[in-house]
Amino acid sequence: MARIVGGYFTSHVPGIGGAIVRGDQDTPYWKPFFDGFPPIRQWLAAEKPDVAVVFSNDHGLNFFLDKMPTFAVGAAPSYDNADEGWGLPVYKSFAGHPALSWHLIDSLVRDEFDITTCQTMLVDHAVSIPFELAWPDAPSWPIKLVPISINTVQYPLPSPKRCLALGRAVHRALQTWSGAERILICGTGGLSHQLDGPRAGFMNPEYDLFCLDNLAANPEALTNHTPEQVAQLAGTQGVEILNWIAARGAMGEGRCRQVSRNYHIPISNTAAATVLLQPA
Ligand code: DHB
Ligand code: FE
Repeated sequence: MARIVGGYFTSHVPGIGGAIVRGDQDTPYWKPFFDGFPPIRQWLAAEKPDVAVVFSNDHGLNFFLDKMPTFAVGAAPSYDNADEGWGLPVYKSFAGHPALSWHLIDSLVRDEFDITTCQTMLVDHAVSIPFELAWPDAPSWPIKLVPISINTVQYPLPSPKRCLALGRAVHRALQTWSGAERILICGTGGLSHQLDGPRAGFMNPEYDLFCLDNLAANPEALTNHTPEQVAQLAGTQGVEILNWIAARGAMGEGRCRQVSRNYHIPISNTAAATVLLQPA
């Protein structure tokens, strides 16, 4: 049976990629953020997961405002990154795991989640930056990818409660997968940030710390808000916390232990956080 070895959660600000390209990791601005990663890299080197099930949001490479699936699951043999206009390198392609993707899709639909199935999919900075942070300088990504995209971009957004339920349905699907893979669950984006409008630059450490404090032991606490309240509390792009909530759901209803945590404000316009959880 497949085994979930842990959950890796991180912000995915494109500027992180710029800092990596320039070699700025140890500068005063970036060091407090990059200091969150040595424990993650050590843990990954020891645990050697085979597949990453990644909950993130597309920022326009696949879905634009005219067609916006609430939940979409990738079922491609491979996933390319593409130029998004941030001035970042185009990252290495990602090997998919179509058999596992189709198992998740089949199980989710039977579980009454009406997802969009994507046999072709590009992946953007929401996947490439977390991978680059986890496996810097790897000649090829040492892990296969199953991407799950959540609409955090355009109204109406799914509720935190629904995202936790989606994650738990993914957990149930993983429990009925016959392969022996070691699975890493990832949630990317957040924490609080707002990139446009009169509140551009808004961040909310109080809400961020509420989320971080409850993620491992009491994720239900994050589901008491409507999507509109999350946008109010976290900022209109901070709603990417929905990806974290779904990823926490995919770790199952059992207890989780926080292995490492880093919170630093700001990186670009974002309150940045990195967390590693392990099933208790
Ligand atoms: C920033 C943050 C994001 O999550 C994103 O997708 C793009 C930009 C930022 O803070 O610059
Ligand atoms: Fe984002």
